[in-house]
Amino acid sequence: MSEVAKLEIEGKVLEIPIITGSEGEKALDIKSLRKDTGYITLDNGFVNTGSCTSAITFLDGEKGILRYRGYPIEQLAENSKFLEVSYLLNFGKLPNTKEFNIFEEKVNSFATLPEGLKKIIDQYPTNAHPMGVMSAVTSSLAAFYPEFLDAPLDGAQRERAITQLMAQVKIIAAHFYKRTQGKEPVASDPSLGFSKDFLNMMFSEEGKEVDEEVAKALDVLFTLHADHEQNCSASTVRVIGSSQANIFATIAGGIDALWGQLHGGANQRVLEMLEEIQKAGGDYKKFISKAKDKNDSFRLMGFGHRVYKNFDPRATIIKKQCDIILEKLKIEDPLLDIARGLEEEARSDDYFVKRNLYPNVDFYSGIIYKALGIPTNMFTVMFVLGRLPGWLAQWKEMREDVTAKIARPRQIYTGERERDYVPMMDRK
Ligand code: ACO
Repeated sequence: MSEVAKLEIEGKVLEIPIITGSEGEKALDIKSLRKDTGYITLDNGFVNTGSCTSAITFLDGEKGILRYRGYPIEQLAENSKFLEVSYLLNFGKLPNTKEFNIFEEKVNSFATLPEGLKKIIDQYPTNAHPMGVMSAVTSSLAAFYPEFLDAPLDGAQRERAITQLMAQVKIIAAHFYKRTQGKEPVASDPSLGFSKDFLNMMFSEEGKEVDEEVAKALDVLFTLHADHEQNCSASTVRVIGSSQANIFATIAGGIDALWGQLHGGANQRVLEMLEEIQKAGGDYKKFISKAKDKNDSFRLMGFGHRVYKNFDPRATIIKKQCDIILEKLKIEDPLLDIARGLEEEARSDDYFVKRNLYPNVDFYSGIIYKALGIPTNMFTVMFVLGRLPGWLAQWKEMREDVTAKIARPRQIYTGERERDYVPMMDRK
């Protein structure tokens, strides 16, 4: 007999089925709670709510574990290309050579943007925030690829649309960047591989040769960002996708959710914070005090995480990539000294230690992007490129689940009770 928990409400004892995940994690299956008792559960910010079952990513925030399809992130970062990891997330297994070549070929077949779409990108003001442009242009793809509008229900369309987005989102990012620089966009050359092609589209016209080791470090960075189970943007993707909205609108919604500074926008905010500290004379200890002051809304950007309450395994790997890139590009940056100072200070400060506030992945990724020459307002776009395969995999998994329902949470209403309408002239 399967396990149950007992809940006593208003003298009635209810048996609630217990669901056990493959890593032993437990959940109460409350789907019939309201029907049986009239009660719902209230969980502000979904801190204790499982919105789905998923076989894609396992993470244990207390132990600092992150695995994609069972493979430890450390092994994938060490051995796999980002595109291979994208295949793994979406199709559940590491591809053999033939499978990978077919996947790569399909991705590469979408290496040019439709002319009309390029014209749309060219209409945006060059000082527009690139995240707004990324979201809007991704959504616009629906107008150019009507043949993928049934992808929510059609498996073959779904797989084609996944390869299309894997190819084109990075081209959109690089195309707009070139326009902001007043330069002609550089065509995608997928034979270079995902990350090198992107760096080439961004910088080749500026006389910067793309270094192999730097491109590889970026590939690792993308791999580290590729999925993180039911975070804010992935949940957004699932919620939008649950209505059978088209894939382009669904991914655009993920991009918008990621833009927020408590989520992907944090890497941009890290750099801005470091610059602010530098401008204020470099006294980072003063900013540590501000972060601890409960009357001050300032927080140390790049510290803390909703689920990693011990350490973020990605931050450990990323720190290594950060050292490789800075060494390779011979960068000595006073901002980096401030970052190191903040990190050391916070790690030994009671306030941060007691609350388990460690540097997260955004803390180092911001520094790496700066070293690569990526403008600060494009940092979150870099996160989009990394997270894209995860969003696609979460969406694909949901669309393949025949039991998936449209997302429609409930609420506890705390407003006025019924009252009579008062004409305007009689209102106080
Ligand atoms: N600086 C100072 N204090 C902090 C910070 C911080 N960065 N983060 C959390 N705290 C404190 C809170 O004030 C709170 O203190 P209290 O217990 O005395 O009230 C305690 O630590 C717990 O914080 P919560 O906000 O409850 O933690 P939560 O899990 O809700 O938030 C979050 C996580 C949003 C990431 C938070 O740590 C934060 O704002 N960090 C800065 C922004 C950031 O780096 N975001 C990127 C996240 S990673 C990602 O999206 C890829």
